[in-house]
Amino acid sequence: MDHSNASPEPAAELFSLLFENKELAMILTTSIAVLIGCVVVFFWRRSGGQKPRSFEPPKPLIVKEPEPEIDDGKKKVTIFFGTQTGTAEGFAKAMAEEAKARYDKAVFRVVDLDDYAADDEEYEEKLKKETLVIFFLATYGDGEPTDNAARFYKWFTEGKERGEWLQNLQYGVFGLGNRQYEHFNKVAKVVDDALVEQGAKCLVPVGLGDDDQCIEDDFSAWRELVWPELDTLLRDEDDATTVSTPYTAAVLEYRVVYRDSMDTPALEKSLSSANGNAVIDAQHPCRANVALRRELHTPESDRSCIHLEFDISGTGIAYETGDHVGVYCENLTETVEEALNLLGVPPETYFSIHSDKEDGTPLSGGSLPPPFPPCTLRTALTKYADLLNSPKKSALLALAAHASDPNEADRLRYLASPAGKDEYAQWVVASQRSLLEVMAEFPSAKPPLGVFFAGVAPRLQPRFYSISSSPRMVPTRIHVTCALVYGKTATERIHKGVCSTWMKNAVPLDESDQCSWAPIFVRQSNFKLPTDSKVPIIMIGPGTGFAPFRGFLQERLALKEAGVELGPSILFFGCRNRRMDFIYEDELNNFVKAGALSELLVAFSREGPTKEYVQNKMLEKASDMWKIISEGGYVYVCGDAKGMARDVHRTLHTIVQEQGSLDSSKTESLVKNLQMNGRYLRDVW
Ligand SMILES: Cc1cc2nc3c(=O)[nH]c(=O)nc-3n(C[C@H](O)[C@H](O)[C@H](O)COP(=O)(O)OP(=O)(O)OC[C@H]3O[C@@H](n4cnc5c(N)ncnc54)[C@H](O)[C@@H]3O)c2cc1C
Ligand SMILES: NC(=O)c1ccc[n+]([C@@H]2O[C@H](COP(=O)([O-])OP(=O)(O)OC[C@H]3O[C@@H](n4cnc5c(N)ncnc54)[C@H](OP(=O)(O)O)[C@@H]3O)[C@@H](O)[C@H]2O)c1
Ligand SMILES: Cc1cc2nc3c(=O)[nH]c(=O)nc-3n(C[C@H](O)[C@H](O)[C@H](O)COP(=O)(O)O)c2cc1C
Repeated sequence: MDHSNASPEPAAELFSLLFENKELAMILTTSIAVLIGCVVVFFWRRSGGQKPRSFEPPKPLIVKEPEPEIDDGKKKVTIFFGTQTGTAEGFAKAMAEEAKARYDKAVFRVVDLDDYAADDEEYEEKLKKETLVIFFLATYGDGEPTDNAARFYKWFTEGKERGEWLQNLQYGVFGLGNRQYEHFNKVAKVVDDALVEQGAKCLVPVGLGDDDQCIEDDFSAWRELVWPELDTLLRDEDDATTVSTPYTAAVLEYRVVYRDSMDTPALEKSLSSANGNAVIDAQHPCRANVALRRELHTPESDRSCIHLEFDISGTGIAYETGDHVGVYCENLTETVEEALNLLGVPPETYFSIHSDKEDGTPLSGGSLPPPFPPCTLRTALTKYADLLNSPKKSALLALAAHASDPNEADRLRYLASPAGKDEYAQWVVASQRSLLEVMAEFPSAKPPLGVFFAGVAPRLQPRFYSISSSPRMVPTRIHVTCALVYGKTATERIHKGVCSTWMKNAVPLDESDQCSWAPIFVRQSNFKLPTDSKVPIIMIGPGTGFAPFRGFLQERLALKEAGVELGPSILFFGCRNRRMDFIYEDELNNFVKAGALSELLVAFSREGPTKEYVQNKMLEKASDMWKIISEGGYVYVCGDAKGMARDVHRTLHTIVQEQGSLDSSKTESLVKNLQMNGRYLRDVW
């Protein structure tokens, strides 16, 4: 990311990867027509420029070639996944692997929901032919599907008029969620209901995985309910008498090829050619320089919030007010050094990982994530390994398999076993013990690199930020407003948030030509201003929740300067203390002065003897809020999902109920209607 870490450009790396992998290359070539079509659609959409648009889930970039339908008399089972960070995909693949071992008279296929069909018609056509399917579906945002499940979810859950057309279908749904969010496992529940409504028959009740606890245990428990059902469907009389041997999941491992360090410069050079991709997305991010960075808190504050600007000029990246930016960050050098010590492998070891055998057949039944490009171990640990989250149980088993001390191996296996459930929950999860901390406790566990990157350290994920600028005001910059994550865990470790710390330390272009940069991409959102700028709006965003509203206000200011008439707007902002964390105070006052914002209400939570939150300010303005809502206005909430958005939601209920003199069920349906009609929008995380 920094020039000092000179490493291959990510997009070029991904391209090289495509060409290294024969299967992907084949898909690429056979999908060129689709690709061109999608590129046209992409630019056509983008050419909408600043015009408000309705949100449509993105179409797939590459639609995989359909697998040939071979009628071998075997029962076909399709296992779908909707994932953002890979857990659902991992569960789907683990389920398929075990199922393959259990039922040799059935064929199991793991399918990314986006790859299943190119359009609604194809979803319908293909689903009609299925007889047995299993879904693994994660929930995100405000109870929304993952990006790769968005098209399917919209089509399937809006298709009530299709009637009971899935009577030949039997299914299971396992949801991935977190109980701390208001809409716990909403996507899995909604898909489960929709399947029943459309005539399908469920094998077992919907599984509700909770990653606030141990989602692997939830998955294991649900899977145990599924096997007896599958036994009756997929085994015949001969099988019924055979006693199946207990299944043990194999430790995942890439094939590793070590390369001569003499080849290193040439290879790295060959990978650092320009980004040749027409489309910029999570799989094809684009390098963006940090143009500016400044601290938003005053020196009196003991916390930090960073305003950071990415320069997107000449990158091909475009965005709209309210969109999100995804940022691929890097681990700190100190974190990487610790990992190098624990692995005991020289940092400059140059290697490549492969998910297939030398003869091209896939390893681990094709359940390995796509490899990252060849690089040194230091680069791999910096860019691709999640080292600070707590290890999953499967990672403990992988470590156990490579622990030379039998006591350590036993303890690792115990922690991952049903008997060690409580200790895992306490010692690993509740203590927020990082993977590196766990490895330090088991020094004899030295997994080879192929195992470490496949089964121990998950892939480092991009972080999302609500863009805090408007392209009407700054077309060549993407602004981010990022709160630093920094705090002590139960083990006294100081957790330095990976991306927020990177942003805090970023060197901007106005300070050095050797500025920091990151691979970034834009994700469209439905958090948009009303099409008609005269429609009144209410914005509620304490702390970094103000981010997208800064974009909204920039947009309104630009419209006003262009002579467009604006409706009234109220912003409820909250922070601890005006002397410390009243971020963008001057800008906010200027927005009011310039008429882009009609009213600014700020709740300071730590100034007086009692806490004052945005909700208190909302209650003070209850009649104005009700007037705006009843006149067709929009309500927007942004920021913390687990506490603030939940409490603000309750306050909104109270205001609607009291001001509208409604009973509780009428209030409920009014608020629901606001949500359904896109007039109550939340960008929460
Ligand atoms: C759609 C969306 C929009 C977002 N917009 C914004 C935005 O505009 N601004 C913004 O600042 N963030 C935003 N976020 C959050 C952002 O994506 C990152 O999660 C955040 O910056 C933390 O990332 P990190 O890599 O620094 O921390 P990580 O390394 O990922 O660490 C975060 C984890 O650390 C732990 N943790 C948190 N606080 C502490 C603490 N005090 N002590 C110990 N452990 C702790 C928690 O387990 C937490 O999950 C958004 C998220 C989403 C999904
Ligand atoms: N993914 C993540 O893990 C993630 C992402 C972003 C931020 N964070 C965490 O959030 C911290 C800062 O975030 P921030 O700057 O956006 O906000 P913040 O400064 O923590 O909070 C802004 C204001 O909201 C108040 N508040 C707290 N709970 C509330 C509630 N239930 N309803 C209404 N208002 C409430 C706070 O008051 P009090 O503090 O006085 O109660 C404060 O006045 C970071 O340090 C980071 O640890 C975590
Ligand atoms: C930003 C964010 C938002 C989330 N929103 C919800 C939610 O609304 N409801 C829920 O049940 N879980 C929510 N979750 C939890 C995820 O669904 C859970 O972590 C899941 O295991 C992710 O699966 P994946 O790795 O397959 O993407 C959220 C997680 C994150 C990081």
